[in-house]
Amino acid sequence: MTETIDLAGRRAFVTGAGRGIGRGIALRLAGAGADVAVNDLDPATAARTADEIKGMGHASAGIPGDVSKADEVQRACDEAEAALGGIDILVNNAGISLYRGIVECTEDDWDRHLNIMAKATFLTMRRLAPAMMERGWGRIVNLGSYVAQMNCTTKYFGPYCAAKFAVVGLTQVAAQEFAPAVTVNAVGPGDVDTDMMAREWELEGGRRDLDPTVVKEEYRERLILGRFERPDDIARAVLFLCSPLGDQVTGSHLIVSGGLPYHN
Ligand SMILES: NC(=O)c1ccc[n+]([C@@H]2O[C@H](COP(=O)([O-])OP(=O)(O)OC[C@H]3O[C@@H](n4cnc5c(N)ncnc54)[C@H](O)[C@@H]3O)[C@@H](O)[C@H]2O)c1
Repeated sequence: MTETIDLAGRRAFVTGAGRGIGRGIALRLAGAGADVAVNDLDPATAARTADEIKGMGHASAGIPGDVSKADEVQRACDEAEAALGGIDILVNNAGISLYRGIVECTEDDWDRHLNIMAKATFLTMRRLAPAMMERGWGRIVNLGSYVAQMNCTTKYFGPYCAAKFAVVGLTQVAAQEFAPAVTVNAVGPGDVDTDMMAREWELEGGRRDLDPTVVKEEYRERLILGRFERPDDIARAVLFLCSPLGDQVTGSHLIVSGGLPYHN
């Protein structure tokens, strides 16, 4: 018997989906049949991903907005519901990172990390989970990170690690409060070759006086599976959690890291 994942009739809202992992998740969910509303801070990239999804034959809409702000989340969710008729799947993917020591970080560095990742996850879940519970089905997936595990943090990522631990903690509480209709999980990537990582290699290269390509190669050498992850590696894990195959998984932080962390 062949088993396929069919999300036809499901309606998803993916934040920060103009590029990178979020775009990969939006395309993968659409590939399984879902309609997908695409949020991003950047209206042009949100519209581009939405166009790709429409080209696959599914309903979509680019929904610009800053998910760290309550009024923008409210408006973006209103628009997503109006475009698709409701939201059954929420993916909190929008994020930022910064390679900077704690004593060098500004208050703004701290606030931006906590607001764009932890607060945004709170705001979108608060807004969209009630209707999912009322309808009797919903799936929420929040982007964690392999660093948000005990003893896996990495230096110079203070606000980032704090924000991701907050996301994982919130995920566990939401899983209890929204059960049984709605499952809530986090997915924790390792090193995914995106614009975010490229910027980190650049900043680390600056601090260590190394070319970013050298830093990148150092990172590659520590990977158990030998290659950087791709957005679709993470998207397939998200798809699993949104599919019937993942029905009994909730409150988890599924690490999809290609084996990281590995200390030799
Ligand atoms: N790349 C990795 O190796 C890695 C590892 C672990 C976790 N993650 C997490 O995966 C998620 C996606 O990362 P990525 O590598 O694709 O990053 P990326 O920088 O390539 O893409 C992030 C997207 O989020 C959008 N965004 C940023 N702030 C926003 C805001 N306030 N409102 C709406 N959209 C906003 C950006 O415009 C961008 O399109 C993040 O939560 C990140 O922390 C990434």
